[in-house]
Amino acid sequence: IKTQVGIVGGGPAGLLLSHLLAKSGVENIVVESRDHDTITHTHRAGILEAGSVKLLTDTGVDGRVLTEGDEHAGIDLRFNGESHPLDFRDLVDATVTLYAQNEVFVDLAAARKRDGGDVRYESEVTEVFDLETETPKFRFTDKDGATFEVHCDILVGADGSRSFCRRAVPGTQDYKTEYPFAWFGILTEAPKSAPELIYANSPHGFALISQRSETVQRMYFQCSPDEDVNQWSDDRIWTELQKRVDGPDGFQLKTGPIFDKTVLGFRSFVREPLSHGRMFLVGDAGHTVPPTGAKGLNLALADVKVLFEAIDSFYSTKDDALLQGYSDLALKRVWKAQNFSYWMTSMLHTSPNADPFSLKRALGELETVTSSRYGQQYLAESYTGWPHS
Ligand code: DHB
Repeated sequence: IKTQVGIVGGGPAGLLLSHLLAKSGVENIVVESRDHDTITHTHRAGILEAGSVKLLTDTGVDGRVLTEGDEHAGIDLRFNGESHPLDFRDLVDATVTLYAQNEVFVDLAAARKRDGGDVRYESEVTEVFDLETETPKFRFTDKDGATFEVHCDILVGADGSRSFCRRAVPGTQDYKTEYPFAWFGILTEAPKSAPELIYANSPHGFALISQRSETVQRMYFQCSPDEDVNQWSDDRIWTELQKRVDGPDGFQLKTGPIFDKTVLGFRSFVREPLSHGRMFLVGDAGHTVPPTGAKGLNLALADVKVLFEAIDSFYSTKDDALLQGYSDLALKRVWKAQNFSYWMTSMLHTSPNADPFSLKRALGELETVTSSRYGQQYLAESYTGWPHS
C-alpha cells in the first residue's frame, strides 16, 4: 500500500490526524489493533478543554460534543470537609466541556467513515522500518491473517502508552515517575450529586465526583495499585466514597447501582524526542500523565494539531522545517501538562506512607491556592488549557 501518511493507532489522536489530513488533501491510512466496539466501550476521562472542542467542531467532526456535551464553568476543591468553588469563567474567562473520550472516538470514527477514510480495525502492526529514509514503512496483519506493507512519506505512532512504534526505536531519554496509588473508577446509575465536579482531598485519600449525564455518574477514589475490584461490593464503595467527601456541611453523595468497576494505573512518562527520522509520536505513545486534571486526551489532540500543521506545511512548501521542529514544540505543552498533572495529583492525594507533616503541608497548599485569586487563576488557566501554539 502506497500512501502519504501512515498512522499506527486509531484512537482519538490517530483518527483526528487522519481527518485533518484528509480535509487538506493528504492521503493517509490508519491501522488499529482493536475493534471499533472495544474502543467504544473503553471508559476513559471526560473533560475537554475549550481548545479541544474547537478543534473538533471547527473541522467538521461532529457538533455532538456541543449538543450532548455539558459545559462546566468551574470545579469544587474540597478539603477539610469544606467546599471551595472555583469559577473558571470569572477567573480566566474560559470553560471546559464534559464529554466522554469514548464519545470523541465514536464521532471521529463516524466522520472518517462518512468521508471515506481508510481505517483498518483489528489489524496488528508487526514491524516498522526504514524510518530514517524518505520512505518509512510498516507491516500489518488484518483479522483474516492477510499481511500488508505500507510505504509512506511520514509515519505516525498514535498507538497509545504501550506504543509499538515507540518501543521500536531508541529515544535520547525516557523520563518517568511512579506513584504509590491508583484510582478505583466506577460508573453508576444515579443522579448528579453536585452541579460541578468535586476534587476532594481527605484523610482517607482522594476522591473525584464526576458525571456522565443526568442519570449516569462517574466517580473515582484513590486506591492501592494492586486493588482487586472483586473485593468491593457496591455498599463498600459508597461508604468509602462518602467518607472522602464528608464534612460539617452534611454533603451526601447520591447513590445508585454501580455497573462498571476498574482500577486505573498512575504514571508520568515522557519520551524525548517525539520523533525518529520520519516517524513522529503523538499522544500517549510519546507521553503519559496521571489522570488528575484530565490532561491526557487534550494533550494528544494538541500534539495532533501541531503535527498536522507541520505535515501540511511539508506538502505545501516541500520544506520539512516544521516537521523537524515538531518534537520541541509539542514537548513545551507536554511538560506544562506533566507539571500540572503531577501538581494536582500530589496536592490532592495522600501517599500511603505520608508523614503528618506532608499531610498538613498539602492542606496549606490547597489553602494557598483557594484563598488567593492568583492561585485560583493559576489552577483555572491550566485546567481549562493553555492557548494552542
Ligand atoms: C474525569 C476524569 C478526570 O481525570 C478528571 O480530572 C475529571 C473528570 C472523568 O472521567 O469524568
